[in-house]
Amino acid sequence: MKHFRKLKILLSLFVLTVHADLPCAPRQYEESVVCVCNTTYCDTVTREVPDGGNYIMYTSSKSGKRFSKSYGSTQAQSYINDNEHFDMVLDIQPETMYQTIEGFGGAVTDSAGFNWKSLPPAVQQHLINSYCSEDGLEYSMIRVPNGSTDFSTRPYAYNEYPVNDTKLTNFTLAPEDILYKVPMIQACMKVAKLDVEVVTATWAPPRWMSIKEESSGFKYLNEDYYQAYADYQCKFAELYNEQGIRVWGLSAANEPLLPFLYDVKEETQLWSTKKMSKFLKNNLGPTIRNCSVRDIRILAVDDQRFALPPLFESIAEDEEVLKYIDGIAVHYYFDERTPPAILARISKKYPDRFILSTEACAGFKPTDIPKVDLGSWERAKIYIKDILENLNYNLVAWIDWNMCLNKEGGPTWVKNFVDSPVIVDAPNEEFLKQPTFYAMGHFSKFIPRFSRRVRVSKVFPTEDLDVQDIQALEQSHYDTVAFLTPNDSIVVVIHNEAKETKSAKIRVGQQELFVKLDAESISTIEVAYLD
Ligand SMILES: *[C@@H]1O[C@H](CO)[C@@H](O)[C@H](O)[C@H]1NC(C)=O
Ligand SMILES: *[C@@H]1O[C@H](CO)[C@@H](O)[C@H](O)[C@H]1NC(C)=O
Ligand SMILES: *[C@@H]1O[C@H](CO)[C@@H](O)[C@H](O)[C@H]1NC(C)=O
Ligand SMILES: *[C@@H]1O[C@H](CO)[C@@H](O)[C@H](O)[C@H]1NC(C)=O
Ligand SMILES: *[C@@H]1O[C@H](CO)[C@@H](O)[C@H](O)[C@H]1NC(C)=O
Ligand SMILES: *[C@@H]1O[C@H](CO)[C@@H](O)[C@H](O)[C@H]1NC(C)=O
Repeated sequence: MKHFRKLKILLSLFVLTVHADLPCAPRQYEESVVCVCNTTYCDTVTREVPDGGNYIMYTSSKSGKRFSKSYGSTQAQSYINDNEHFDMVLDIQPETMYQTIEGFGGAVTDSAGFNWKSLPPAVQQHLINSYCSEDGLEYSMIRVPNGSTDFSTRPYAYNEYPVNDTKLTNFTLAPEDILYKVPMIQACMKVAKLDVEVVTATWAPPRWMSIKEESSGFKYLNEDYYQAYADYQCKFAELYNEQGIRVWGLSAANEPLLPFLYDVKEETQLWSTKKMSKFLKNNLGPTIRNCSVRDIRILAVDDQRFALPPLFESIAEDEEVLKYIDGIAVHYYFDERTPPAILARISKKYPDRFILSTEACAGFKPTDIPKVDLGSWERAKIYIKDILENLNYNLVAWIDWNMCLNKEGGPTWVKNFVDSPVIVDAPNEEFLKQPTFYAMGHFSKFIPRFSRRVRVSKVFPTEDLDVQDIQALEQSHYDTVAFLTPNDSIVVVIHNEAKETKSAKIRVGQQELFVKLDAESISTIEVAYLD
């Protein structure tokens, strides 16, 4: 009996592999592959709907799998304790629900727009489909900077002239908006199934609104222009709205503590807790609530985790400020230095305020050489681990930085070259999808808006474990998250960091299924939920 069951488990591990989609056109680099898209070819992936009793599994791995599909069937949960045959046993408990997902996406910076536009039209369309369509990652959120950032070819703001023009009589969008960013966002919206939610932030306002402190070189917003700056935010939303792009959320400033910590003086403004409170309460809050573009969510922080105490927790003590804060935006840089416990503390104390991740990229540290590391699975792992951690700490969205860059990691007028999930090679009329692209997709494509995170518990294989075994298991090379989608399916994402294949048993309701997790891989498994 026991042997028979073992055999059944073994058989169910050898599931049929079918490729209905266009597979990756691989180009091998040292660690892993990139997938090449050109005028005539680009890989696709469609999400299939699992019917009762079956599951679909998608795997990407260091060895070169990219959304490789496999199918299998579930079986009624057995009461025989065979847990010891598996490296991992997961018990999904959909009756315990956590946060509701808003979405996943990337940023349309000026540089992303330039790179996209530098490709022939057919390749541009492949790039948009890869990110936004049902054949691709199904991005449902986009972050767009208001004015220029380090990922621009020049610094600029709107209404730079005339100076001291508090009525903003000369506010028009820049050529960067009209020629690159607006068309790129519109192209994404056109092929996306869900509404694309747009989040914005300002890096630097018009120069006349700032005061430069001679001694330190820091720039502050001149308090005389707080209202003009608030109006500027609303105006930007109105002009984008005229282009059919609705601003869903905005933050008061991008990385307001950056100048203080990293001595960066360009493209950024330093904000103290006190000034931020004052600006939110007296200017930005009332202005955005009254902006003709309705229902814009105001996001606090928009900086690293370590900025959460000064730029949210302190500010939130004043009810008059808190009432204008709908959510909290965090960036992921240096997450390893600030443990996620702070996210748990905030979501516990402020359950009505959502937290989302609004910026991330690989290759940003000075020691990250090369800046664009083609085929790096290590960088995919960084994305996967950060997204898993954030989702397990109740974040509702995870938005990547530049949607595409060139082979150098730019353009960037301040020479802040970094990596991107899509690298554009305009002279060769192609773009390369990095492992980070697929890392994003294992979440973005399968966890649609309004999915609810559900409890996953790891079951210890046998009851007679000693303390050492338990510790080893707790530190095992896995990480996982599960969701109940609006269509009543269960989506489980599992990261196997180990250098060996692992087996897993997953229990969902009255069913169970057995899967093999490739060495150094990420898998998304979708199964109909029959409770
Ligand atoms: C485009 O990519 C496909 C698949 O890799 C390849 O067969 C084809 O030759 C490429 N076309 C061009 C113009 O490079
Ligand atoms: C309005 O802004 C444009 C640049 O966007 C500038 O060339 C022009 O001089 C400005 N108009 C006035 C009256 O300052
Ligand atoms: C603009 O306002 C600043 C004070 O904020 C003042 O020093 C400057 O002279 C003004 N410039 C013009 C052209 O009005
Ligand atoms: C864009 O930035 C300007 C100032 O730089 C600000 O007044 C305006 O409100 C911003 N718009 C949005 C939607 O953030
Ligand atoms: C709200 O906007 C309207 C129209 O733009 C304006 O007349 C009114 O003064 C504004 N109210 C507040 C409180 O800002
Ligand atoms: C979810 O259900 C809706 C409505 O029944 C359907 O249109 C949609 O295609 C389904 N999506 C998936 C991913 O199953």
